[in-house]
Amino acid sequence: MQLKKTHCWEIDPNQPLSDLLLKEEMHDAAQLLREGGLVAFPTETVYGLGADATSSEAVKRIFLAKGRPSDNPLIIHFGEVHQIREWVQSIPPAGEQLLEAFVPGPLTLILPHSGKIVPEVTAGLPTVGVRIPNHPVARALLQLTGHPVAAPSANRSGRPSPTEARHVWQDLQGRIELLLDGGPTGVGVESTVVDVTGEYPILLRPGGVSLEDLQKVVPTIQVDLGLTESASKPRSPGMKYRHYAPEATMWLVKGNPQNMVTQIQKLIEESNLHGKKVGVLTTTENEDKYKSAAVVSAGSRKQPESVARNLFQALRQFDELKVDVIYGETFPEEGIFFSVMNRLRKAADGKFC
Ligand code: TXA
Ligand code: MG
Repeated sequence: MQLKKTHCWEIDPNQPLSDLLLKEEMHDAAQLLREGGLVAFPTETVYGLGADATSSEAVKRIFLAKGRPSDNPLIIHFGEVHQIREWVQSIPPAGEQLLEAFVPGPLTLILPHSGKIVPEVTAGLPTVGVRIPNHPVARALLQLTGHPVAAPSANRSGRPSPTEARHVWQDLQGRIELLLDGGPTGVGVESTVVDVTGEYPILLRPGGVSLEDLQKVVPTIQVDLGLTESASKPRSPGMKYRHYAPEATMWLVKGNPQNMVTQIQKLIEESNLHGKKVGVLTTTENEDKYKSAAVVSAGSRKQPESVARNLFQALRQFDELKVDVIYGETFPEEGIFFSVMNRLRKAADGKFC
């Protein structure tokens, strides 16, 4: 792939249109998208890599820049709810209820598309994922662009999703035209994906909206078996790939927080004996308890949102620390920790010890 110059513009994350210069930059970014360029931008979950979803050529460039398999469909992003209706066939009642409760926000709905969207976005499926991010920079950019914008997470395929502009830079510099730097994102894990095309709504990917909160609005929601039983085929194409992965091999360790510490310390000592540099993914509660390892804390067990927010940058930190093996603490599978555990399972390729 021929390298191009990537521009990086700092944008005020709260008031992206507050002064003339910013306004001009945001208009230029929207124009670039309409002309088929690739623009990375912050959302409330992770940074996205945007392209005009009405242009096959622009969308193909996303797959090329990320090294993404072409059978993995993209989510289309809009600035306003009413725009969604133009691009989908219909919105079932459960979809309307979820829109009302959580949108704009970290939720993606899978809906039957109207046929106007280019097939590269949907990987040929009859459905499309739609989302309205709740981030001032994303919303301003989407409103100014006017077109639907296809946007996967702005990382090289397989790498942890970017929660800061520098992560996008590390992965995609020279491969995209523009990066809008709006500072760190808030939620830290990607949007929750819910398929509302069938008899019951189905949770395909846990994310920023918890299952418990979804259940309050649509009590009939089912969890895709592919999320819990590794043997069955996940219904969301993206969920079948190894993902979010640091370079070192990762293992997850089960148990209560105290047992985990004892077991991980043993594993550190064994690995050290084999000459391996060890990384430990932990929380503030346990960060002082390990010896002879590179310890990275993702946040506090008492504040699950902090762990979600810092998880991907913690995984990226292990690459900088150049460890050979990572042992990760695990979390109870409820609330946002369910989403955190889903990402950790993928990062560890399902390996527990
Ligand atoms: O928070 C997010 O959702 C971020 C930001 C940038 O919006 N985007 C994101 O996109 O995470 P991506 O491409 O990294 O993940 C999209 C997921 C994939 O697992 C994909 O397979 C699934 O959504 N998906 C997209 N369209 C689908 C469809 N029609 N049916 C089932 N799954 C779909
Ligand atoms: Mg992704």
